Amino acid sequence: MVASGARKAAIIGGGVIGGGWAARFALMGWNVRIHDTDRDAERRINAILGRARASMPGLWDVALPDEGKISFHDDLAEAVEGAEWIQESVPERLDLKHEVYAAIQSACTETAIIGSSSSGFRPSELAEGAARPGQIVVAHPFNPVYLIPLVEIVTGPGTGEARIERIRSTLRDIGAHPLFLRREIDAHIADRLLAAVWREALWLVSDGVADTAEIDDAIRYGFGLRWAQMGLFETYRIAGGEAGMRQLLTRLGASPNLPWSKLTDMPELTDELVETIASQSDAQSGRHSTAELEQIRDANLVSILRGLKTRDWGAGRLLNATDRRIDGAPKGLDALSLTGPLPTGARAVPLDWSDINGHMTEHRYLQAFGDATDRFLGLVGCDAEYIACGHSYFTAETHIRHLAEIRAGALIEIDTQLLLAEGRRMQVFHRMWESSRLVATAEHMLVHVDLGSRRAVAPPADLKERLDKVAAAHAHLPRPEGAGAAVGRPLERKAETDAGPEAG
Ligand SMILES: NC(=O)c1ccc[n+]([C@@H]2O[C@H](COP(=O)([O-])OP(=O)(O)OC[C@H]3O[C@@H](n4cnc5c(N)ncnc54)[C@H](O)[C@@H]3O)[C@@H](O)[C@H]2O)c1
Repeated sequence: MVASGARKAAIIGGGVIGGGWAARFALMGWNVRIHDTDRDAERRINAILGRARASMPGLWDVALPDEGKISFHDDLAEAVEGAEWIQESVPERLDLKHEVYAAIQSACTETAIIGSSSSGFRPSELAEGAARPGQIVVAHPFNPVYLIPLVEIVTGPGTGEARIERIRSTLRDIGAHPLFLRREIDAHIADRLLAAVWREALWLVSDGVADTAEIDDAIRYGFGLRWAQMGLFETYRIAGGEAGMRQLLTRLGASPNLPWSKLTDMPELTDELVETIASQSDAQSGRHSTAELEQIRDANLVSILRGLKTRDWGAGRLLNATDRRIDGAPKGLDALSLTGPLPTGARAVPLDWSDINGHMTEHRYLQAFGDATDRFLGLVGCDAEYIACGHSYFTAETHIRHLAEIRAGALIEIDTQLLLAEGRRMQVFHRMWESSRLVATAEHMLVHVDLGSRRAVAPPADLKERLDKVAAAHAHLPRPEGAGAAVGRPLERKAETDAGPEAG
């Protein structure tokens, strides 16, 4: 389904980066219009969109807005018409970018933000000769744009506070992390850091110290893991011991302070060095196509990001904040009709929930259903605050049925019927849907416990009252198909066989 009142973005230049922007905007519910001078751009963007649909929505534990409409336009003016955000991602050539801004500004509204993906140019260079220079800012993303949250923002004197606020809120809206530079500088922050590492890596190959695979291992088995979660300064602060950063900076012989670097000299990219690096890279990674490497990269990034999410740290903290912001689910019974099963979950299947068979693996069903139980308990008032006061429900028994395959990126929705709420016991029945297709069910018996004595006790009167209200309403619902089933045979057949041995 496409959101008709969706906000509009235009992407000018739909290559690796423009395609990634298109995916991020569209999957966050924006309608996206794309203009590219190359006829093959649509095919390439569709491939990027396919990877993004499988990987991006599952970063969050709640459902994203309905995907926006994506359209391709030969005419640049048609693409930018009515767009709130226009992202230029044409090749890194200043004359070409100037030409494109002139065309954009003659057709877009004055209030639209024009972001440039430029990796190196300053906004003052980009806006040279522009009709409205303050409208153009650097919005520098990282590949793949649909998974990496950082966008470096470089504004100019004409940007203005109101526009800065809109840039901040728009990027937050699409789940990105805007990092505003204090002043403009060639290649912004991240690419300058990367340039330093790249330069040293080229020297290491050029001097025959290491090959490309060894350099990549030095990063991915080592400091790359630290950088992804703490960056550079926080990591080194720990290296300084209890006295922290001051100790590290002043300690004689502390490794970061030694003059090991080749300073600013780049090795000359002679034919020989190019050949050495390219053939080492072929030996290292040539068995994988670029498309395979992109899939591997996306799956690894999703695992890392979701891991950081459980730690509520770094990029994981941003994902959690976005979950809270976009979660539109009701928080209590008052906002719900009790005449049907209660909505207790809506989310995309994360890429790291897939198994070797290419579908959602068993234990993730329990995770999704467990989250639905938590959501149901929250609705009846057994939430974090209630648990902190000393009572909770423990799950005593679970029966899951896997009825149909579900793949990464699919939107799953769960609803919950209360089958029993008597004394200390509560029995719930969850159904998991992909669109109108029932893909799994789960039945759980839960027991109310006193967290001090760890023993089963009856729930207090106010919780019991809310449960009774749901139970009374749900008593009118038909018993769900599959409720009370034993493994391998539904309850009805079990009842028959309990009565006597099956004939034959
Ligand atoms: N590749 C990266 O990792 C990366 C990362 C961050 C930023 N960037 C920046 O993003 C920008 C685009 O880089 P890319 O890697 O996506 O390049 P790309 O070559 O993959 O894509 C550029 C696209 O622009 C199209 N194009 C060329 N002229 C055009 C025109 N006049 N109008 C409309 N479309 C036109 C091309 O057909 C192509 O599809 C550059 O400024 C680059 O510095 C790149």
